[in-house]
Amino acid sequence: MSDRTLKLTDQRSGKTIDLPLVKGTLGPPGIGVGHIYRELGAFSYDPGFLSTASCQSNITYIDGEQGILLYRGYPIEQLAAQSTFIEVAYLLLYGELPTAAQLEDFRRLILHHTMINETLKRFFTGFYHDAHPMAVMVGVVGSLSAFYHDSTDIANPKHREISAHRLIAKVPTIAAGCYKLNMGEPMMYPQNHLSYCGNFLHMMFAVPCEDYEVDPLAERALDILFMLHADHEQNASTATVRQAGSSGADPFACIAAGIASLWGPAHGGANEAVLKMLEEIGDVRAIPRYIARAKDRDDPYRLMGFGHRVYKNYDPRARIIRSICHEVLESRGGSDPLFELALRLEEIALNDEYFIERKLYPNVDFYSGIIYRALGVPVNMFTVMFAIARTVGWVAHWLEMMADPDQKIGRPRQIYTGPAQRDYVPLEKRTASD
Ligand code: SDX
Repeated sequence: MSDRTLKLTDQRSGKTIDLPLVKGTLGPPGIGVGHIYRELGAFSYDPGFLSTASCQSNITYIDGEQGILLYRGYPIEQLAAQSTFIEVAYLLLYGELPTAAQLEDFRRLILHHTMINETLKRFFTGFYHDAHPMAVMVGVVGSLSAFYHDSTDIANPKHREISAHRLIAKVPTIAAGCYKLNMGEPMMYPQNHLSYCGNFLHMMFAVPCEDYEVDPLAERALDILFMLHADHEQNASTATVRQAGSSGADPFACIAAGIASLWGPAHGGANEAVLKMLEEIGDVRAIPRYIARAKDRDDPYRLMGFGHRVYKNYDPRARIIRSICHEVLESRGGSDPLFELALRLEEIALNDEYFIERKLYPNVDFYSGIIYRALGVPVNMFTVMFAIARTVGWVAHWLEMMADPDQKIGRPRQIYTGPAQRDYVPLEKRTASD
């Protein structure tokens, strides 16, 4: 056996075929199985894609065993400490860190697109004031396709780039609009002299009747949180965006599909679920009872913010967020009882055999809500915060996929387990047992 192929023998027919090994820069190789149906008349079978690489990508690398996360090769720890979200957005889109001039041009370009069409605001008034912000996000971001369909020729790289810039620029404006809908306050226009995060904080918390001063610590904390949430290779929502985009669908509709997938509590919705879990636990003395529930196979209850499909070590993003929690809470005059509870819950869980055996650690969602809460963001907006940041990763992957000359529509097969062929029974001949 060479180090470039594996052999697969079908015991039913005795036929042996070569399976090419597809190697990347880092990480395990992939086994090329695209031809096994043609050669052996059988499908590969991997529900939940536990061992399936769906594509090749140059954007983000994760080593789940070591707890490593690289954006275009740069460690997340270095970017969180030294970069900014808008610079990370440039890096994820274009593959290299920008020069000062490139960064300034990109920053201006994005800020130039932050306003939304005034007609688009009517979509907000179609929702009840208490609509969940993620439901509004799915609808309003998806409606962008109705405003730009005549200037989105996805075969044109320039059009694709403009769509990407529009999405990165407009999603925060729409997100702040969701919050204002819930608050019954008027939407605030972007202030393009502010930073990307400063602009978002202003659109969220400013009101027309008084001045608003962006808090630099809140601005920096948000910038780091957005960097940490920007991309994560083929997570469920990014895979959704790629799947939707593979048919040539409108990019704004693809990002709306990504928002829908992110909303689930098993994915980005976990940050909202963590806060609700901590509020439900309420007291350190109740922790053992909830840990017992999480371990009980007969109880579907899970510790939200714990575990990860890829990380079987501490999520490097959770480690950074936990350290920012201390800083933000101190700046707000003290701790948060839910943060103390979260720290204790982590300590107990990480010393419990069940979690150790299954390599369940806190993930990016476990502590992020503590910071959002300290910044005044309501719980139902937590996943919207995640969506703002992940829009950068989604559009970076969409651009990468659309530029791939070998790109095909994603069309998986299935193992059929339904009834074998049978004949139609006319109504008058049917009995209850049919
Ligand atoms: C994100 O993919 C990404 O990269 C996502 C993300 C990103 O940046 O895009 O990192 C963001 O979505 C983070 C994950 C947020 N979700 C949660 O915090 C929800 C709680 N965690 C889980 O439901 C779960 O851990 C998943 C969904 C995150 C991962 O599930 P897997 O990989 O399918 O693992 P599994 O369900 O097969 O669990 C393996 C075992 C099972 O026990 P056994 O059947 O072996 O006895 O671990 C147990 C599970 O019951 N388990 C948990 C648990 N998570 C897994 N038990 C208790 N509490 C948990 N949280």
